[in-house]
Amino acid sequence: MKVLVDRRDALEAAADAVVVGCFERGDKDDVLPRGLAREDGVTKGLLAAAWKRKEVKGKRKELSVFHRPDGRGRCVLVGLGPRVQFSAESVRRAAAEAVRGLKGKGARTVAFRLPSFAADGVSADVAARAIVDGAVLGAYEFLRYKTTSEGGVEEAAVHLGEDLAREEALVKKAVADELALVDTVVWTRDLANLPADTATPERLAEEARSLAKEFGLKVTVFDEKKLAEMGCGGILAVGSGSAHPPRMIVLEYPGGSRRGRTVAVVGKGITFDSGGISIKPGPRMSEMKFDKSGAVATLGILRAAATLKVGPRVIGVLCCAENLPSGSAYRPGDVVRTFNGKTIEVLNTDAEGRVVLSDGLGYVVKQYQPDEVIDLATLTGAEVVALGDDTAGLVANDDRLAQGLLAAAQLTGEPFWRMPLTDFHREMVKSDVADVRNSTEIPVAGMLTAAAFLETFVGPTTPWAHLDIAGPAYTNVLTRKWQPAYQNPGATAFGVRTVVRYLESAAPRS
Ligand code: BES
Ligand code: MN
Ligand code: ZN
Repeated sequence: MKVLVDRRDALEAAADAVVVGCFERGDKDDVLPRGLAREDGVTKGLLAAAWKRKEVKGKRKELSVFHRPDGRGRCVLVGLGPRVQFSAESVRRAAAEAVRGLKGKGARTVAFRLPSFAADGVSADVAARAIVDGAVLGAYEFLRYKTTSEGGVEEAAVHLGEDLAREEALVKKAVADELALVDTVVWTRDLANLPADTATPERLAEEARSLAKEFGLKVTVFDEKKLAEMGCGGILAVGSGSAHPPRMIVLEYPGGSRRGRTVAVVGKGITFDSGGISIKPGPRMSEMKFDKSGAVATLGILRAAATLKVGPRVIGVLCCAENLPSGSAYRPGDVVRTFNGKTIEVLNTDAEGRVVLSDGLGYVVKQYQPDEVIDLATLTGAEVVALGDDTAGLVANDDRLAQGLLAAAQLTGEPFWRMPLTDFHREMVKSDVADVRNSTEIPVAGMLTAAAFLETFVGPTTPWAHLDIAGPAYTNVLTRKWQPAYQNPGATAFGVRTVVRYLESAAPRS
């Protein structure tokens, strides 16, 4: 989607629809808010009349569409919810609601009126970024396998009007930066949405190669032969049941400054997770094509880092394998030796994410000695039970890194919640026969025992944050209706915006 910045008031544009936000009214608010006077003018009083009849309430998700008597398209009022709860997220959601509501209604171009929200604590650049997110992500659809489509919004403009005339340069920069970021989110969603017959580990390697070529990144792909030489027994074991052999993919973005620090991003790339010999039940197993979301997000993070030229050097590691049962599959009871020499007792082949990540984490820590490690993984069903389908779990051994990520998440609106990691969890993953076991076989603190497992492969001295995105990585049929309008069916590319904003913001470690 194209997004422009326009100095004129939105009502002056020749757009198919003008979108204007509206705070939720109180019981006694009988007169139309002064901010909507111009819209009332072009609708020749329709708006004030609707307000009086209490048809327009300004509630979240509320869309009121007025056809302009001057024949210049529609005027759309979108609810922002209560003023006291207002934030950039209100704008992000409202913009997405508007774009979605206009889908299939012949509106190709949309003009968003950007008023000053300064009095409500949201600056013009932050609000403009939220409009870009909502418009682009709200309009997103995965159309690759559709032979027909309804047609939606193709072009949006952020209109400043008189109030914000002096903020033009700031808003232009914000819109350009955010557009670059959400363009990568769209790219990431397209890749994450590919089914497992197409998005094999080798296909992800090809995507990494072409990304590297396009953006001048360094790329190395370790195939099954090389992985065996390196001693990556974890990735090999998980991939051993599939006809599509596993890959470990390493990408390097050199960083904006020579003395910058190195951040490693490690992603779980299970192209399909059937559970393996510990096979999953049938219902909704198809969702496990999204079990590569962490690795695909890692690709997106590298892409955006290169586009936006963030400061730190970024190493991306994708641990890719397909987890299937077969005569050659790994099995419960097996013990595997990983890259850094540590051994894993496999008690459940469905706890495969931590097994592939063990090699990726061990490798990146030894090879690059990064200043920080961030891993992204659709790791546990326990994460979904604990936090729901919209929120990711964050576990970190370093407060500064955790705070940095949470601050970035505040900017993007992606919900993350920090969870504790204690010796209790560390004790639980100890094994009788190996260094660690991949399952505790009791339903206690599943997200955190998984994190304790991963920690053993990072070691105690490297700052590390684990992002369990099992819930928010994709929207499922059961809970989709409760998700914000910028999360469409399928992959969400959750984590990309937050980790990139973190990389942009992070000051060098002293
Ligand atoms: N990929 C799943 C986790 C998952 C569940 C992601 C639901 C997205 C939605 C993971 O590999 C898994 O199967 N985890 C097991 C671990 C258990 C066997 C210790 C789980 O959470 O049940
Ligand atoms: Mn699994
Ligand atoms: Zn999995």
